[in-house]
Amino acid sequence: MDVKQLRTLYQEIFHEESPRVFFAPGRINLIGEHTDYNGGYVFPCAITKGTYALASKRSDKKIRMYSVNFKELGIVEFELENLDYEAKHEWANYPKGMLRFLKESGCSIGSGFDVLFYGNIPNGAGLSSSASIELVTGVLLDSLFELSMDRIEMVKIGQQVENKFIGVNSGIMDQFAIGMGRKNAGILLNCDTLEYEYAPIELERHSILIMNTNKRRELADSKYNERRSECEQALAQLQKKADIQELANLSPSEFDEYQSIIDSEVLRKRAKHVVYENSRTLEALKELKNGNLEAFGELMNQSHLSLKNDYEVTGTELDTLAETAWKEDGVLGARMTGAGFGGCAIAIVETDKAEAIMKAIGKVYKEKIGYEAEFYQVLIGDGAKEIKEVEGI
Ligand code: GLA
Repeated sequence: MDVKQLRTLYQEIFHEESPRVFFAPGRINLIGEHTDYNGGYVFPCAITKGTYALASKRSDKKIRMYSVNFKELGIVEFELENLDYEAKHEWANYPKGMLRFLKESGCSIGSGFDVLFYGNIPNGAGLSSSASIELVTGVLLDSLFELSMDRIEMVKIGQQVENKFIGVNSGIMDQFAIGMGRKNAGILLNCDTLEYEYAPIELERHSILIMNTNKRRELADSKYNERRSECEQALAQLQKKADIQELANLSPSEFDEYQSIIDSEVLRKRAKHVVYENSRTLEALKELKNGNLEAFGELMNQSHLSLKNDYEVTGTELDTLAETAWKEDGVLGARMTGAGFGGCAIAIVETDKAEAIMKAIGKVYKEKIGYEAEFYQVLIGDGAKEIKEVEGI
């Protein structure tokens, strides 16, 4: 669907001619996985697929939301004064939570509004469709109600929605990448201090391939919360000897020195992943700056292995995609991206060979897993913003 078609649909549904149009991307994480909630580095970027929102203010206090992706739910309607979580509102709880926490943070939102959402990120594929709808709601509220919000505050409110409204204890990475993304750049973010730097991604004759397992991410949220609590337990044990606030404060050699203090093999492996992944992320940025894409790719592969063997969040589907990719000619590196437990993997591939690579991996995946994987070639795009001119989708 393009913006023109969305405008027509908006008019049919809400009988209003001139909504404003907003967009927030999805994200991939190049490297630095499960480090954000451990005070470490991440290196994500925004992609050119994402969530569109068309919106206009109302004169009363009603809020009406419609999603092209969940047509069967029809218009979800509620009052500005009643912003509690309601299971029956399903997807609409994400934008509702955003509205609620923005108001609680002191933003003055005096009237209701109508909004239509349309997302072209595959839902539940681990490309952060939820953070994308949160941030597109953030920018539309910011613009419609002239809130002049600080963007990083908006990003933090998005994270609060996940943590306190939806109930997933996720870190700040997704909302940060989506709120702060920049065309053709990755963001090296220190999740402890929120200091960040943009690093140009110049892939030249290479491109980024997203490989979707199409696996349903059942129990993913509870497994995610379980990993987070395992990290907290490992940290508490390490703190008996090491003077640290977060797992990512340890260097690999310090970890090797202290690790015997952790009394369980599982917790030790979780902590090891975090510490080594954090250091790999900085190393990867260095290689990228030196233009050494081969070395960057090799670090991606190591990241996947650590997420498989030590953090144990990959599973057969993601392993099949990454490990098959490693064997293909023209692949510099491949790894799962995001939380894991299904979702997507990414690969950096020679653009000329991309078609053949997708075909070969797709074939092995189908044979081994029994259903199809999906592949997308994406570009690195900007963060959440208003779209002023008509752009295609
Ligand atoms: C999910 C979370 C992020 C991050 C990643 C793993 O995407 O939302 O905060 O923890 O998993 O790196």
